[in-house]
Amino acid sequence: MNLKEQVGYKAVEFVKDGMIVGLGTGSTVFYFIHAIAEKIKKGLNVKLVSTSLQSIELAKSLGLHVEDLENVSKIDLTVDGVDEIDKNFNAIKGGGAALFREKIVADISKHIVWIYDESKDVEQLGAFNLPVEILPFGHTHTIRKLACLGLNPILRYKDGKVLVTDNGNYIVDLNLNVGFDVYEVKEKLSTVVGVVEHGLFLNMCKHCIKGTKDGAIIIENNTI
Ligand code: A5P
Repeated sequence: MNLKEQVGYKAVEFVKDGMIVGLGTGSTVFYFIHAIAEKIKKGLNVKLVSTSLQSIELAKSLGLHVEDLENVSKIDLTVDGVDEIDKNFNAIKGGGAALFREKIVADISKHIVWIYDESKDVEQLGAFNLPVEILPFGHTHTIRKLACLGLNPILRYKDGKVLVTDNGNYIVDLNLNVGFDVYEVKEKLSTVVGVVEHGLFLNMCKHCIKGTKDGAIIIENNTI
């Protein structure tokens, strides 16, 4: 079992009968979705919602039904990945361009579990560029404003074209210094018209499951 598979399968231990479960996005959550699909086939009764079209497609390909987010009044548990995480449970997410849906699903989830391999564990955030979702309308101006604030935005491309998110928006990746002030950057971003959401997820998870070569480690966040 590789480390992503290890934590994906471990996370399913948090899922209980009757829950509404949020499916995150990415190559680690890929294994969680497989793990939950196996449990559902064996009789586990849960409702699923998703943070991306990619995860909906994967779930459907495994024979699972995914509810529209508008049709649920709560989410009991969401399992998602991270791009970087520090000791204060602050994370950068959005490497897979799903950060807006991940953020709104996280915001309404009672319990968040992040799963990742040990390479994501960092002393300070910032080696990974911070993804920010922006509106296409006026994006040249939004990007200029971000640059003026010293945030070094880089418009994301995929296959030679500007990447378009599940929400029809663009992503810019901010090239910040390792150890940047997360609260200062968050505050700056709140002043920029055209920014839809950013990939800073600060102290939102109750549990982390870190994959290591010695096994999966569950870390509880006692500050929330
Ligand atoms: C998607 O936009 C991201 O936030 C992912 O959750 C994050 O990039 C982790 O992905 P991997 O598990 O593929 O590294």
